[in-house]
Amino acid sequence: MAGLPSLLQDSLAQIAADIDHEFDVLLTLPGDARDRLYAAMRHAAIGGGKRLRPLLVAATGALFHVDRAVALRVGTAVEAIHVYSLVHDDLPCMDDDDMRRGKPTVHRAFDEATAVLAGDSLHALAFEILASSQTHGDPFVRGELISTLALASGPEGMAGGQMMDIEAEKSVVDLQTVMRLQALKTGALIAASVEMGAILGHIPPEGRAHLRGYARDIGLAFQIADDIMDVEGDPKLAGKALQKDAAANKGTFVSLMGLERAKQQAKMLVQQANDHLSSYGTEADLLRAIANYITERDR
Ligand code: IPE
Ligand code: IPE
Ligand code: MG
Ligand code: MG
Ligand code: MG
Repeated sequence: MAGLPSLLQDSLAQIAADIDHEFDVLLTLPGDARDRLYAAMRHAAIGGGKRLRPLLVAATGALFHVDRAVALRVGTAVEAIHVYSLVHDDLPCMDDDDMRRGKPTVHRAFDEATAVLAGDSLHALAFEILASSQTHGDPFVRGELISTLALASGPEGMAGGQMMDIEAEKSVVDLQTVMRLQALKTGALIAASVEMGAILGHIPPEGRAHLRGYARDIGLAFQIADDIMDVEGDPKLAGKALQKDAAANKGTFVSLMGLERAKQQAKMLVQQANDHLSSYGTEADLLRAIANYITERDR
C-alpha cells in the first residue's frame, strides 16, 4: 500500500481489520456436521480482499455522521454478497479459477458442493444481517437497505451481469453492451454500497443524485481497471490468475478500445466521479481518495 495517501492507507487497514472481526464473530463454528460449511465461509470471507464496498458504505455514511458500527454491519452485508459472488464466479462451471485473494479458491480448498453451499449461505447471511434490529432500529431503514441490496444482487444487478458476461464470450459485443454488462456485474454492488451509506444518513432519494453519479462513474472505472489488470497486472500482487479474458475471447473495455484508450477512459471517469463531489468540502476527501485508488491499484 506504499505510495497511497495516508488517509486512504489508514482507512483500508482499519476497514480490513473491522470486517475480518465482523465475519469472525458471525461465523463461529457450530461444532457439528456443519463445521465444514462454516470453515469454507470463513476461508472465503476472512483475510484478503480490499474491502472496497464496506469502505464505500463507511465513507459515504461518515459524510452524514452515521454511527460507524452501523455502517460496518451494513458493509459486512454487502461484502458477504460480494464474497459469495467471487466463490461462485471461481467455480469450474464459471471461470474455473484456482486462486483468489492469494489463497486457493473455495472449491479447491474444500470441494465444489461445499463451495456452492458456502456461496448460498453468504448470500443468505447478507440479508439476515440487514433484517436484524441489531443492525438498525428503524424497520423502514432496514426495508430500504434490504431492497437496495436485493436489487443490486439479482438479475437486475450482479447475477444478471454475470449472465451477460458469459453470453459475451459466445458472440462479438459492442462497447455499449460491455458498458451495460459491467454496470450490472460490478457497478450495481458498488452503487448499492454508496446508496446504503446515504440511506443510513437519511438522505432522501432526490438528494442522492450526485452520489449516484459518483458511484456510477467509479463502478465503471473499477471494472475497466480490473480488465486492464487482467492484461498487464502481476498475479502475485493481484492474488488471482490473470490474462484470462483474452484467452476466453471475452469482450472487455480493453479488447474493444485497446489498453491506452481504456486507461484514458478510466482516468476520465475518475475525474468525472470527483466532479460529482464538488459540493462537498474536506469531509468527502476519503471518497475522492477511493476514486483515485480505483485506477491506481495493483490488486
Ligand atoms: C473482483 O472484485 C471482482 C470484480 C468485481 C471485478 P475486487 O477487486 O473488489 O476483489 P477483492 O474483494 O479485493 O478480492
Ligand atoms: C467477476 O468478474 C465479477 C463478479 C460479479 C464476481 P471477473 O470474473 O472479471 O472477476 P475476477 O477477475 O475473477 O476477480
Ligand atoms: Mg467472471
Ligand atoms: Mg472471474
Ligand atoms: Mg476480471
